[in-house]
Amino acid sequence: MLALARKAAENAYAPYSRFPVGATLRFADGGVVSAANVENASYGLSLCAETLAVAKALAQGRRGGLVAVAVAGSGARPVTPCGRCRQVISELAALDHADPLVWCADGESVLELRLSQLLPHAFGPGDLPGDPDEA
Ligand code: THU
Repeated sequence: MLALARKAAENAYAPYSRFPVGATLRFADGGVVSAANVENASYGLSLCAETLAVAKALAQGRRGGLVAVAVAGSGARPVTPCGRCRQVISELAALDHADPLVWCADGESVLELRLSQLLPHAFGPGDLPGDPDEA
């Protein structure tokens, strides 16, 4: 997982921050989906690796089954998903009430957490009126 995330980071488009990040999602059927961060000259439009990986998985038709997430950066500390990415990962996980493992890494060390530790008391599809399974 981390090797895949590190490999994905090689395709990061991060000319502004020079902070490449890779993310890999693993699903219960063994499938994996990876992405890297993609920045923009209009800085605020930049997209994190995790957000892109989740969008890619949803766009491929996945609607749950998320068992683990690996995030790899190259800085001095393990890269933990930003707040927006925690919410975005949570949306996919909530579709089948999963609480995936999240491995956060730098070049050497790895931090292992559950999504529920990164985003306790998450707001999700189940908090809205209507049947989220219809979405
Ligand atoms: N970034 C990610 O892709 N994922 C994270 O978890 C943290 C930050 C990206 C966003 C931006 O392109 C660069 O890292 C510096 O913030």
